[in-house]
Amino acid sequence: MEKFLGKKNVAVFISGRGSNLKFLIKYSKSKNSLINIALVISNNPNAKGLEYANKSKIKNIGYKYINKKIFENKCLKLLKKYKIDVLCLAGFMKILSSNFIKNFSKPILNIHPSLLPKYKGLNTHYRALKNKDKFAGASVHLVNEKLDSGRIILQKKIRILKKDNTKSLEKKVLKIEHQIYVKGIIKYLTNL
Ligand code: GRF
Repeated sequence: MEKFLGKKNVAVFISGRGSNLKFLIKYSKSKNSLINIALVISNNPNAKGLEYANKSKIKNIGYKYINKKIFENKCLKLLKKYKIDVLCLAGFMKILSSNFIKNFSKPILNIHPSLLPKYKGLNTHYRALKNKDKFAGASVHLVNEKLDSGRIILQKKIRILKKDNTKSLEKKVLKIEHQIYVKGIIKYLTNL
């Protein structure tokens, strides 16, 4: 195992609320944090989450999304400019092209609101309830060219209760996301 050498420069991609970003920023400011968040990008200029980056004086950009190619090319340039080592997707609702993944060539992590490999894609809580699953949860995983299919780094599960609905489940799973995204990043970086 290689020893961890210095803080990693991290970029975070978001699309909306940014609560996961908020927890990543909080961790990045903590003593002995392994990351420095150097850049936040949104595919939506009105994403509320950009406010968290603003408050912490982190360079952030909300692009008006025209198409994937234009957006991704702008992002690739910025990721290079800011010497980003790791990209974290946090509620980022666009699927990155294989061209982007190849060109970036650094690790990309994502937080997903299900116990992968179950329920890739959208509406994870609805599908878990419909299938009468006993457990729900969240996963931190690496991003590869197949949607929500990269190596799983960390998962946490919770029991689904009889009284749960999509809203209550979403709330509980989001809490888990906030806990395990940071833990997953640490686990990944310390095992590089
Ligand atoms: C989270 O549940 C994330 O896993 C999903 O979208 C939600 C985004 O939440 N992909 P936030 O923007 O981090 O608050």
